[in-house]
Amino acid sequence: MAQYTRISGSVGLITLKNPPVNALSAVVRQGIVDSVERALGEPEVKCLVICGQSGKFCGGADIREFGKKMTGPPLIPVFHAIEAAAKPVVAAIEGIALGGGLELALGCHYRIAHSKAKLGLPEVTLGLLPAAAGSQRLPRLIGVPAALDLITTGRHVTAAEALQLGIVDQVTDHNTVDAAVKFALSVAGQSLDARRISTFPCPRLSNLDAVFEAAMQKVRQAARGAIAPIACVQAVRAAATLPYAQGLEREKELMATLFTSGQARALQYSFFAQRAVGRWSMPSGARWDTSKPKPIRKAAVIGLGTMGRGITVGLAQAGLSVVAVETQEKQLMEAKQAVSGMLERGAKKRGVSPPLGNISYSSNIKTVGDVDLVIEAVFEDMALKKEVFQQLSAVCRPGTFLCTNTSGLDIDDLASQTPNPELVVGMHFFAPAHVMKLLEVVYGPRSSPQAVATAMQLGKVIGKVSVAVGNCQGFVGNRMLSPYLSQANFLLEEGATPEFVDQVLEEFGFAMGAFRMSDLSGLDVGWRVRKAAGLVVPGQPARMRQGCRYSPLGDLLCEQGRFGQKTGSGWYQYDKPGSRVAKPDPWLHSFLEEYRTRHGLVARRIDHQEVLERCLYSLINEGFRILEEGIAAGPEDIDVIYVLGYSWPRHRGGPMFYADMVGLTRVLERLEFYHQAHPDVPSLQPCNLLRKLVASGSPPIHRWREVIKKVHSQL
Ligand code: NAI
Repeated sequence: MAQYTRISGSVGLITLKNPPVNALSAVVRQGIVDSVERALGEPEVKCLVICGQSGKFCGGADIREFGKKMTGPPLIPVFHAIEAAAKPVVAAIEGIALGGGLELALGCHYRIAHSKAKLGLPEVTLGLLPAAAGSQRLPRLIGVPAALDLITTGRHVTAAEALQLGIVDQVTDHNTVDAAVKFALSVAGQSLDARRISTFPCPRLSNLDAVFEAAMQKVRQAARGAIAPIACVQAVRAAATLPYAQGLEREKELMATLFTSGQARALQYSFFAQRAVGRWSMPSGARWDTSKPKPIRKAAVIGLGTMGRGITVGLAQAGLSVVAVETQEKQLMEAKQAVSGMLERGAKKRGVSPPLGNISYSSNIKTVGDVDLVIEAVFEDMALKKEVFQQLSAVCRPGTFLCTNTSGLDIDDLASQTPNPELVVGMHFFAPAHVMKLLEVVYGPRSSPQAVATAMQLGKVIGKVSVAVGNCQGFVGNRMLSPYLSQANFLLEEGATPEFVDQVLEEFGFAMGAFRMSDLSGLDVGWRVRKAAGLVVPGQPARMRQGCRYSPLGDLLCEQGRFGQKTGSGWYQYDKPGSRVAKPDPWLHSFLEEYRTRHGLVARRIDHQEVLERCLYSLINEGFRILEEGIAAGPEDIDVIYVLGYSWPRHRGGPMFYADMVGLTRVLERLEFYHQAHPDVPSLQPCNLLRKLVASGSPPIHRWREVIKKVHSQL
């Protein structure tokens, strides 16, 4: 609701009350309209202040109302009523003014913000635009370039930046409502003609076309197929070129297109999925709300290579004490420098001092005796990891959680090296570990709910979105990637080029196609895994393993020393080792031709549709297997992993959401078609759960859990 009170005799105070963020629900909107009307009718009231309860001004539209029938007054007339008021209305912004919250503030005549407040129009991140006149008022207030930046990126600004941009009139370190009341009284009675933003002309730009062309180019490049940023540019252009009323019409039209595009649905699903993964559960019945995490104050990281360094930075930045252990002297020295550099750069960005003192370095594992939790990040070598776990069991005090950053080795096998397997879980970070948002928390059959809860909580503390998953080869993310990469390789054998496959996948929205991504991560990584799995053994048929189709292309490149970017060649060629600019490689094209001739393969024309369907549907099929086996509790877990860890385009929701959008019947039909054409590729064989879902009428994604439950109860 919106509560109306009178303070200081002549100030009407409207307090938004809708926890947790005072979102503009129907009741709140009606409350604002009624309060403004009442205040205007009271002759003693000279001015108004709008604030939010519990230190939060307003978090915007109430997304719980999205997709439901509209009740109560719409936002635009509410804001017009405020703007048209004959008494000054001042927004007292504490905490947040986001989306509709900032649009509400822009409808007011003045804005006072607390120094710690954050302001922004993040609608674009949900596939929308600020359609309660935000796209029309903000450019009029702060000019086109600044408004374009804020509206197309959705970024939040601090109160200081908002003051500099002209979004707010004053910033205070003290009580914001008191400051706003004082301010309101000081301007009471003054003319409001120059305070109604909708009446402002948009600040003129001499190079208007060039500015919009550049903005459009920038968003098209960054958007990877998302349409909301483009609509945002178009809406701001309307503000710059049309009278306010017509601009509003354009804003409405653009919003209607976004609403029906499906992308907004995907982005909103993704938003809720990121919250849903925090409510984890395990097949044993253990759950987030019944498992209590242990507080972690001091942690150790073992192995300071690529991953260990990033993990150390993440822990230290979150205020934990860290013991960082590396056995190689040279690596230890380099790691110290690298970690300090990362911490210093991070601190500079955030305007704080670097937490260098939180870390102690050592080359001796015995120094980790008093930590609460250890994260092991040594080479991906089971024998070495086992040895490290045995050492840790000997030196750590009882009750210490032992975590591994393995990308896919058996957690339970590692746990069996310790007398307390219940304390062992996987904490699978993604590179660069201090930047990437995703953390897969992997529980083995013996991991205790408390160990899982502790790892999930630690993930949260260091700013990650943690997803709890079961123990299997490659866990969720890498396991699903395996059939996707295999299909990409098979397509090369059948006639495609890496450039073509990548182009199709990048047009779909991946940041990088399968081959550019493999070149970046290093082809030797997969080679080592395949060797360890006994797949790269001389004397086997070239293109078959254990009765299934196998492509040795990656192995053959590695044998030539082509490991990708780091060696200057892989699926592409690079100017020099470490360069990031991938160029098509004539050597690779002739190599593929020779390979096909050697194996009697005839290259055929492969189209976009086949590349997309074979790569994506085989990955999705593996996702259904993962759900069927209970490795992931629900489709949201898989989708969050793919969006945050594997650059799946957010506006397509994630692989499982995409399958729902395409239609499960279609996915099943196409998998059946491709499996018939390639019977020796088991990953193309539609899995049982997909068939069951189709047989039960292809329920929408939010109802899949019911079918999964039934499948599990029948096992
Ligand atoms: P890396 O090769 O960069 O670093 C490993 C470090 O461990 C080296 O500095 C090595 O000297 C040190 N080390 C070896 N034995 C040790 C011991 N007994 N005690 C202390 N330090 C020891 O490897 P990277 O890439 O950091 O990978 C580490 C782990 O993280 C692996 O299990 C890998 O699969 C996993 N991982 C790697 C990702 C990546 O993108 N590089 C992503 C996610 C997980």
